[in-house]
Amino acid sequence: MGIEQLVFDVEKVRQEFPILNTKVRGNKRLVYFDNAATTQRPRRVIETVKEFYERYNSNVHRGAHWLSDLATKMYEDARKTVKEFLNARSEREIVFVRGTTEGINLIATSFSRGLLKEGDEIIVTEMEHHSNIVPWQLVAQQTGAKLKVIPINDRGELVLEKLKDLITERTKLISVVHVSNSLGTINPVKEIIELAHQAGIPVVVDGAQAVAHIPVDVQALDCDFYVFSGHKIYGPTGIGVVYGKEKWLDKMPPYQGGGDMIKEVTFEKTTYNELPYKFEAGTPNIAGAIGLAEALKWFKQFDINAVHEHENELVKYATELLKQIGGIRIIGEANNKTAVVSFIADGVHPHDIGTGLDMEGVAIRTGHHCTQPVMCHFGIMATARASFAIYNTKEEVEIFVSALKKVLKFFRQ
Ligand code: ALA
Repeated sequence: MGIEQLVFDVEKVRQEFPILNTKVRGNKRLVYFDNAATTQRPRRVIETVKEFYERYNSNVHRGAHWLSDLATKMYEDARKTVKEFLNARSEREIVFVRGTTEGINLIATSFSRGLLKEGDEIIVTEMEHHSNIVPWQLVAQQTGAKLKVIPINDRGELVLEKLKDLITERTKLISVVHVSNSLGTINPVKEIIELAHQAGIPVVVDGAQAVAHIPVDVQALDCDFYVFSGHKIYGPTGIGVVYGKEKWLDKMPPYQGGGDMIKEVTFEKTTYNELPYKFEAGTPNIAGAIGLAEALKWFKQFDINAVHEHENELVKYATELLKQIGGIRIIGEANNKTAVVSFIADGVHPHDIGTGLDMEGVAIRTGHHCTQPVMCHFGIMATARASFAIYNTKEEVEIFVSALKKVLKFFRQ
Protein backbone atom coordinates (compact mmCIF):
# COMPACT_ATOMS: atom_id res chain seq x y z
CA MET A 1 0.00 0.00 0.00
CA GLY A 2 1.76 3.09 -1.22
CA ILE A 3 5.13 1.32 -1.14
CA GLU A 4 6.71 0.15 -4.33
CA GLN A 5 7.70 -3.42 -3.61
CA LEU A 6 11.17 -4.70 -4.38
CA VAL A 7 11.70 -7.64 -6.65
CA PHE A 8 12.80 -10.39 -4.35
CA ASP A 9 16.54 -10.93 -4.73
CA VAL A 10 17.95 -13.07 -1.95
CA GLU A 11 21.60 -12.20 -2.65
CA LYS A 12 20.83 -8.49 -2.32
CA VAL A 13 18.86 -9.16 0.85
CA ARG A 14 21.83 -11.05 2.33
CA GLN A 15 24.11 -8.06 1.79
CA GLU A 16 21.98 -6.09 4.23
CA PHE A 17 22.76 -8.51 7.07
CA PRO A 18 26.36 -8.02 8.27
CA ILE A 19 26.20 -11.02 10.61
CA LEU A 20 25.69 -13.43 7.72
CA ASN A 21 29.35 -12.89 6.78
CA THR A 22 30.56 -14.02 10.19
CA LYS A 23 32.92 -16.97 10.17
CA VAL A 24 32.34 -19.49 12.93
CA ARG A 25 34.11 -22.56 14.36
CA GLY A 26 37.49 -22.04 12.74
CA ASN A 27 36.67 -20.04 9.65
CA LYS A 28 33.54 -21.93 8.65
CA ARG A 29 30.89 -20.16 6.66
CA LEU A 30 27.87 -19.51 8.89
CA VAL A 31 24.62 -21.14 7.83
CA TYR A 32 22.01 -19.63 10.09
CA PHE A 33 18.94 -21.87 10.32
CA ASP A 34 17.75 -20.85 13.78
CA ASN A 35 15.38 -18.15 12.63
CA ALA A 36 12.39 -19.43 14.56
CA ALA A 37 14.38 -18.73 17.72
CA THR A 38 15.41 -15.29 16.53
CA THR A 39 16.02 -13.70 13.14
CA GLN A 40 19.01 -11.53 12.31
CA ARG A 41 18.70 -7.74 11.84
CA PRO A 42 19.40 -5.79 8.68
CA ARG A 43 21.89 -2.92 8.89
CA ARG A 44 19.05 -0.39 8.76
CA VAL A 45 17.59 -1.66 12.01
CA ILE A 46 20.97 -1.76 13.76
CA GLU A 47 21.68 1.83 12.63
CA THR A 48 18.25 3.04 13.74
CA VAL A 49 18.73 1.72 17.27
CA LYS A 50 22.26 3.14 17.40
CA GLU A 51 20.99 6.51 16.17
CA PHE A 52 18.40 6.63 18.95
CA TYR A 53 21.07 6.23 21.63
CA GLU A 54 23.56 8.52 19.92
CA ARG A 55 21.22 11.36 18.97
CA TYR A 56 17.96 11.53 20.87
CA ASN A 57 17.90 9.05 23.77
CA SER A 58 15.31 10.35 26.19
CA ASN A 59 12.20 9.22 28.01
CA VAL A 60 8.79 9.44 26.35
CA HIS A 61 5.52 11.18 27.31
CA ARG A 62 7.22 12.91 30.23
CA GLY A 63 9.90 15.40 29.33
CA ALA A 64 9.55 19.10 28.71
CA HIS A 65 12.46 19.21 26.33
CA TRP A 66 13.46 18.77 22.71
CA LEU A 67 14.97 15.30 23.05
CA SER A 68 11.94 13.93 24.82
CA ASP A 69 9.62 15.45 22.22
CA LEU A 70 11.57 13.75 19.47
CA ALA A 71 11.75 10.40 21.29
CA THR A 72 7.99 10.58 21.95
CA LYS A 73 7.26 11.36 18.31
CA MET A 74 9.43 8.49 17.09
CA TYR A 75 7.89 6.09 19.63
CA GLU A 76 4.35 7.06 18.64
CA ASP A 77 5.26 6.94 14.94
CA ALA A 78 6.46 3.38 15.59
CA ARG A 79 3.01 2.57 16.93
CA LYS A 80 1.50 3.92 13.70
CA THR A 81 3.85 1.73 11.66
CA VAL A 82 2.75 -1.34 13.64
CA LYS A 83 -0.89 -0.35 13.24
CA GLU A 84 -0.44 -0.16 9.47
CA PHE A 85 1.55 -3.39 9.37
CA LEU A 86 -1.25 -5.32 11.09
CA ASN A 87 -4.00 -3.26 9.46
CA ALA A 88 -5.48 -2.43 12.87
CA ARG A 89 -8.25 0.16 13.01
CA SER A 90 -6.50 2.49 15.41
CA GLU A 91 -3.27 3.08 17.29
CA ARG A 92 -5.30 2.68 20.46
CA GLU A 93 -5.33 -1.04 19.68
CA ILE A 94 -1.52 -1.35 19.64
CA VAL A 95 0.20 -2.01 22.97
CA PHE A 96 3.97 -2.35 23.17
CA VAL A 97 5.20 -5.19 25.37
CA ARG A 98 8.45 -7.13 25.78
CA GLY A 99 7.45 -9.86 23.37
CA THR A 100 4.87 -12.54 22.65
CA THR A 101 5.29 -14.15 26.06
CA GLU A 102 4.60 -10.94 27.92
CA GLY A 103 1.76 -10.19 25.52
CA ILE A 104 -0.05 -13.43 26.30
CA ASN A 105 0.61 -12.96 30.02
CA LEU A 106 -0.88 -9.49 29.74
CA ILE A 107 -4.08 -10.77 28.14
CA ALA A 108 -4.39 -13.78 30.46
CA THR A 109 -3.72 -11.81 33.65
CA SER A 110 -5.98 -8.96 32.71
CA PHE A 111 -8.76 -11.36 31.69
CA SER A 112 -8.44 -13.17 35.01
CA ARG A 113 -9.22 -9.95 36.86
CA GLY A 114 -12.95 -9.88 36.44
CA LEU A 115 -13.60 -11.57 33.10
CA LEU A 116 -12.96 -15.17 34.25
CA LYS A 117 -14.57 -17.06 37.10
CA GLU A 118 -14.76 -20.57 38.49
CA GLY A 119 -16.02 -23.11 35.97
CA ASP A 120 -15.23 -20.94 32.94
CA GLU A 121 -13.32 -22.60 30.14
CA ILE A 122 -10.37 -21.55 28.01
CA ILE A 123 -9.47 -23.49 24.87
CA VAL A 124 -5.93 -23.82 23.56
CA THR A 125 -4.37 -26.37 21.19
CA GLU A 126 -1.99 -29.26 21.64
CA MET A 127 0.61 -27.51 19.48
CA GLU A 128 0.93 -24.35 21.59
CA HIS A 129 4.25 -22.97 22.73
CA HIS A 130 4.50 -23.12 26.52
CA SER A 131 3.95 -19.37 26.53
CA ASN A 132 0.41 -19.97 25.31
CA ILE A 133 -0.25 -22.72 27.85
CA VAL A 134 1.34 -21.75 31.15
CA PRO A 135 -0.16 -18.21 31.45
CA TRP A 136 -3.62 -19.79 31.03
CA GLN A 137 -2.81 -22.50 33.58
CA LEU A 138 -1.77 -19.80 36.03
CA VAL A 139 -5.01 -17.87 35.61
CA ALA A 140 -7.00 -21.11 35.69
CA GLN A 141 -5.42 -21.93 39.07
CA GLN A 142 -6.30 -18.49 40.39
CA THR A 143 -9.85 -18.31 39.09
CA GLY A 144 -10.96 -21.95 39.04
CA ALA A 145 -11.34 -21.82 35.25
CA LYS A 146 -10.52 -24.93 33.19
CA LEU A 147 -8.21 -25.46 30.25
CA LYS A 148 -9.41 -27.52 27.27
CA VAL A 149 -7.25 -28.62 24.37
CA ILE A 150 -7.84 -29.02 20.61
CA PRO A 151 -5.83 -32.13 19.68
CA ILE A 152 -3.47 -32.56 16.73
CA ASN A 153 -3.16 -35.46 14.29
CA ASP A 154 0.03 -37.29 13.36
CA ARG A 155 0.75 -34.88 10.52
CA GLY A 156 0.83 -32.09 13.10
CA GLU A 157 -2.47 -30.48 12.06
CA LEU A 158 -5.29 -29.42 14.33
CA VAL A 159 -8.22 -31.80 14.52
CA LEU A 160 -10.63 -28.97 13.97
CA GLU A 161 -13.79 -31.11 14.08
CA LYS A 162 -13.13 -31.46 17.81
CA LEU A 163 -13.43 -27.74 18.39
CA LYS A 164 -17.22 -27.79 18.01
CA ASP A 165 -17.44 -30.38 20.81
CA LEU A 166 -15.08 -28.42 23.03
CA ILE A 167 -17.01 -25.15 22.84
CA THR A 168 -19.67 -24.86 25.54
CA GLU A 169 -21.54 -21.97 27.06
CA ARG A 170 -18.74 -21.76 29.65
CA THR A 171 -16.07 -21.10 27.02
CA LYS A 172 -14.71 -17.62 27.66
CA LEU A 173 -11.75 -17.49 25.32
CA ILE A 174 -9.81 -19.43 22.67
CA SER A 175 -6.07 -18.93 22.27
CA VAL A 176 -4.35 -20.46 19.28
CA VAL A 177 -1.00 -20.32 17.56
CA HIS A 178 -1.01 -19.03 13.97
CA VAL A 179 2.14 -20.93 12.90
CA SER A 180 3.65 -23.66 15.08
CA ASN A 181 7.28 -23.07 16.07
CA SER A 182 8.10 -26.77 16.31
CA LEU A 183 6.05 -28.15 13.38
CA GLY A 184 5.69 -25.23 11.01
CA THR A 185 1.95 -25.88 10.66
CA ILE A 186 -0.11 -22.89 9.52
CA ASN A 187 -3.39 -23.08 11.39
CA PRO A 188 -6.75 -22.12 9.87
CA VAL A 189 -7.20 -19.30 12.37
CA LYS A 190 -9.85 -17.51 10.31
CA GLU A 191 -12.04 -20.59 10.45
CA ILE A 192 -11.47 -20.92 14.19
CA ILE A 193 -12.31 -17.25 14.71
CA GLU A 194 -15.53 -17.55 12.70
CA LEU A 195 -16.60 -20.58 14.70
CA ALA A 196 -15.72 -18.88 18.00
CA HIS A 197 -17.52 -15.68 17.10
CA GLN A 198 -20.71 -17.60 16.30
CA ALA A 199 -20.67 -18.45 20.00
CA GLY A 200 -19.54 -14.93 21.03
CA ILE A 201 -16.10 -16.12 22.15
CA PRO A 202 -13.02 -13.90 21.68
CA VAL A 203 -9.89 -15.37 20.06
CA VAL A 204 -6.25 -14.65 20.85
CA VAL A 205 -3.78 -15.46 18.06
CA ASP A 206 -0.11 -16.09 18.87
CA GLY A 207 1.54 -14.69 15.76
CA ALA A 208 5.18 -15.03 16.85
CA GLN A 209 6.08 -17.44 14.03
CA ALA A 210 3.63 -16.04 11.49
CA VAL A 211 4.34 -12.35 10.97
CA ALA A 212 7.63 -12.86 9.11
CA HIS A 213 6.29 -15.62 6.88
CA ILE A 214 2.65 -15.13 5.88
CA PRO A 215 0.36 -12.14 5.38
CA VAL A 216 -1.33 -10.94 8.55
CA ASP A 217 -4.31 -8.59 8.54
CA VAL A 218 -6.10 -8.40 11.85
CA GLN A 219 -9.26 -6.88 10.38
CA ALA A 220 -9.50 -9.57 7.71
CA LEU A 221 -8.91 -12.26 10.34
CA ASP A 222 -11.29 -10.49 12.73
CA CYS A 223 -9.22 -11.82 15.66
CA ASP A 224 -9.78 -10.15 19.02
CA PHE A 225 -6.10 -10.20 19.94
CA TYR A 226 -2.93 -10.75 17.94
CA VAL A 227 0.47 -10.98 19.59
CA PHE A 228 3.98 -11.02 18.14
CA SER A 229 7.65 -10.37 18.97
CA GLY A 230 9.92 -7.90 17.20
CA HIS A 231 12.95 -10.16 17.10
CA LYS A 232 11.19 -12.80 15.02
CA ILE A 233 10.67 -10.24 12.26
CA TYR A 234 14.13 -8.71 11.91
CA GLY A 235 13.63 -6.24 14.78
CA PRO A 236 15.22 -5.91 18.22
CA THR A 237 14.72 -8.24 21.17
CA GLY A 238 12.72 -7.07 24.17
CA ILE A 239 9.96 -5.51 22.11
CA GLY A 240 6.67 -7.02 21.01
CA VAL A 241 3.10 -6.10 20.32
CA VAL A 242 -0.36 -6.88 21.59
CA TYR A 243 -3.06 -5.94 19.15
CA GLY A 244 -6.44 -5.93 20.88
CA LYS A 245 -9.83 -4.78 19.70
CA GLU A 246 -10.76 -1.63 21.57
CA LYS A 247 -13.96 -3.17 22.86
CA TRP A 248 -11.87 -5.75 24.77
CA LEU A 249 -9.01 -3.50 25.85
CA ASP A 250 -11.57 -1.03 27.21
CA LYS A 251 -13.19 -3.72 29.33
CA MET A 252 -9.95 -5.21 30.59
CA PRO A 253 -8.25 -3.89 33.74
CA PRO A 254 -4.55 -2.94 33.62
CA TYR A 255 -1.90 -5.65 33.65
CA GLN A 256 0.75 -3.76 35.59
CA GLY A 257 0.53 -0.63 37.71
CA GLY A 258 3.00 2.22 37.57
CA GLY A 259 3.89 5.38 35.75
CA ASP A 260 2.27 6.39 32.47
CA MET A 261 -0.71 4.04 32.84
CA ILE A 262 -2.60 6.38 35.15
CA LYS A 263 -4.71 9.51 34.83
CA GLU A 264 -4.86 10.38 38.49
CA VAL A 265 -3.57 8.74 41.66
CA THR A 266 -4.70 9.30 45.22
CA PHE A 267 -4.47 6.87 48.11
CA GLU A 268 -8.22 6.43 47.88
CA LYS A 269 -8.56 5.80 44.17
CA THR A 270 -6.59 5.65 40.93
CA THR A 271 -8.04 6.27 37.49
CA TYR A 272 -6.35 4.82 34.46
CA ASN A 273 -4.96 6.41 31.34
CA GLU A 274 -6.64 5.97 27.97
CA LEU A 275 -5.74 3.23 25.51
CA PRO A 276 -3.16 2.03 24.80
CA TYR A 277 -1.27 3.65 27.70
CA LYS A 278 -3.42 1.88 30.29
CA PHE A 279 -1.38 -1.22 29.41
CA GLU A 280 2.06 0.39 29.20
CA ALA A 281 3.24 0.90 32.78
CA GLY A 282 6.77 2.20 33.28
CA THR A 283 9.36 3.37 30.81
CA PRO A 284 8.90 1.31 27.68
CA ASN A 285 11.54 -0.13 25.38
CA ILE A 286 11.73 3.06 23.31
CA ALA A 287 14.72 2.08 21.18
CA GLY A 288 13.13 -1.33 20.66
CA ALA A 289 9.84 0.11 19.41
CA ILE A 290 11.64 2.47 17.03
CA GLY A 291 13.88 -0.38 15.85
CA LEU A 292 10.85 -2.61 15.34
CA ALA A 293 9.16 0.03 13.20
CA GLU A 294 12.28 0.23 11.05
CA ALA A 295 12.29 -3.57 10.70
CA LEU A 296 8.63 -3.56 9.64
CA LYS A 297 9.25 -0.79 7.09
CA TRP A 298 12.22 -2.73 5.75
CA PHE A 299 10.24 -5.97 5.56
CA LYS A 300 7.26 -4.34 3.89
CA GLN A 301 9.39 -3.49 0.88
CA PHE A 302 9.07 -7.12 -0.13
CA ASP A 303 5.98 -8.87 -1.38
CA ILE A 304 5.09 -11.18 1.52
CA ASN A 305 3.76 -13.75 -0.93
CA ALA A 306 7.15 -13.85 -2.65
CA VAL A 307 8.87 -14.25 0.73
CA HIS A 308 6.45 -17.02 1.64
CA GLU A 309 7.03 -18.75 -1.69
CA HIS A 310 10.82 -18.51 -1.26
CA GLU A 311 10.69 -20.00 2.25
CA ASN A 312 8.33 -22.74 1.09
CA GLU A 313 10.84 -23.69 -1.58
CA LEU A 314 13.47 -24.04 1.13
CA VAL A 315 11.16 -26.18 3.26
CA LYS A 316 10.35 -28.43 0.30
CA TYR A 317 13.97 -28.72 -0.79
CA ALA A 318 15.24 -29.48 2.72
CA THR A 319 12.47 -32.03 3.29
CA GLU A 320 13.21 -33.75 0.00
CA LEU A 321 16.96 -33.97 0.70
CA LEU A 322 16.43 -35.10 4.29
CA LYS A 323 14.12 -37.88 3.15
CA GLN A 324 16.86 -39.16 0.85
CA ILE A 325 19.06 -39.79 3.89
CA GLY A 326 18.18 -43.08 5.56
CA GLY A 327 16.57 -43.19 9.00
CA ILE A 328 15.23 -39.64 9.14
CA ARG A 329 11.70 -38.90 10.30
CA ILE A 330 10.16 -35.49 9.66
CA ILE A 331 8.06 -34.27 12.58
CA GLY A 332 5.30 -32.03 11.26
CA GLU A 333 4.02 -32.82 7.77
CA ALA A 334 1.01 -30.56 7.59
CA ASN A 335 -0.31 -29.77 4.14
CA ASN A 336 -0.09 -26.13 5.01
CA LYS A 337 3.24 -25.39 6.67
CA THR A 338 6.01 -22.84 6.49
CA ALA A 339 9.60 -22.02 7.35
CA VAL A 340 10.31 -24.94 9.71
CA VAL A 341 11.66 -28.46 9.22
CA SER A 342 11.78 -30.52 12.42
CA PHE A 343 13.24 -34.01 12.31
CA ILE A 344 14.71 -36.88 14.25
CA ALA A 345 17.33 -39.38 13.11
CA ASP A 346 17.56 -43.06 14.04
CA GLY A 347 20.29 -43.74 16.55
CA VAL A 348 21.47 -40.14 16.98
CA HIS A 349 20.18 -37.76 19.65
CA PRO A 350 18.98 -34.35 18.36
CA HIS A 351 21.46 -32.62 20.70
CA ASP A 352 24.33 -34.52 19.09
CA ILE A 353 23.00 -33.48 15.69
CA GLY A 354 22.95 -29.86 16.83
CA THR A 355 26.46 -30.02 18.25
CA GLY A 356 27.79 -31.81 15.19
CA LEU A 357 26.20 -29.33 12.79
CA ASP A 358 27.55 -26.44 14.82
CA MET A 359 31.07 -27.79 14.30
CA GLU A 360 30.35 -27.46 10.57
CA GLY A 361 29.10 -23.89 10.91
CA VAL A 362 25.40 -24.73 10.72
CA ALA A 363 23.21 -23.20 13.43
CA ILE A 364 19.94 -25.00 14.20
CA ARG A 365 17.92 -25.51 17.38
CA THR A 366 17.46 -28.81 19.14
CA GLY A 367 15.23 -29.75 22.05
CA HIS A 368 11.52 -29.62 22.75
CA HIS A 369 11.26 -26.05 21.46
CA CYS A 370 9.06 -25.10 24.44
CA THR A 371 6.35 -27.39 23.06
CA GLN A 372 6.55 -30.45 25.30
CA PRO A 373 2.93 -31.51 24.57
CA VAL A 374 3.88 -31.73 20.88
CA MET A 375 6.88 -33.92 21.73
CA CYS A 376 4.61 -36.04 23.92
CA HIS A 377 2.15 -36.47 21.03
CA PHE A 378 4.91 -37.86 18.83
CA GLY A 379 6.42 -39.94 21.64
CA ILE A 380 9.79 -38.18 21.48
CA MET A 381 11.83 -35.96 23.78
CA ALA A 382 13.24 -33.56 21.22
CA THR A 383 13.76 -32.76 17.56
CA ALA A 384 16.41 -31.06 15.51
CA ARG A 385 14.87 -28.02 13.85
CA ALA A 386 16.04 -26.02 10.86
CA SER A 387 14.06 -22.81 10.46
CA PHE A 388 14.31 -20.44 7.52
CA ALA A 389 14.14 -16.73 6.84
CA ILE A 390 14.07 -14.36 3.89
CA TYR A 391 17.89 -14.46 3.51
CA ASN A 392 18.38 -18.24 3.39
CA THR A 393 19.25 -20.06 0.18
CA LYS A 394 19.06 -23.48 -1.43
CA GLU A 395 22.83 -23.60 -1.39
CA GLU A 396 22.72 -23.28 2.39
CA VAL A 397 20.23 -26.15 2.51
CA GLU A 398 22.74 -28.26 0.60
CA ILE A 399 25.54 -27.30 3.03
CA PHE A 400 23.27 -28.22 5.93
CA VAL A 401 22.34 -31.59 4.46
CA SER A 402 25.89 -32.58 3.60
CA ALA A 403 27.03 -31.51 7.10
CA LEU A 404 24.21 -33.59 8.54
CA LYS A 405 25.30 -36.66 6.56
CA LYS A 406 28.79 -36.26 8.00
CA VAL A 407 27.43 -35.94 11.54
CA LEU A 408 25.14 -38.96 11.19
CA LYS A 409 27.97 -41.03 9.76
CA PHE A 410 30.20 -40.10 12.70
CA PHE A 411 27.60 -40.97 15.35
CA ARG A 412 26.28 -44.07 13.61
CA GLN A 413 29.70 -45.67 13.15
N1 ALA B 1 10.09 -19.77 20.66
C1 ALA B 1 11.37 -19.68 20.06
C2 ALA B 1 11.73 -20.92 19.30
O1 ALA B 1 10.86 -21.61 18.84
C3 ALA B 1 12.43 -19.29 21.03
O2 ALA B 1 12.89 -21.23 19.14
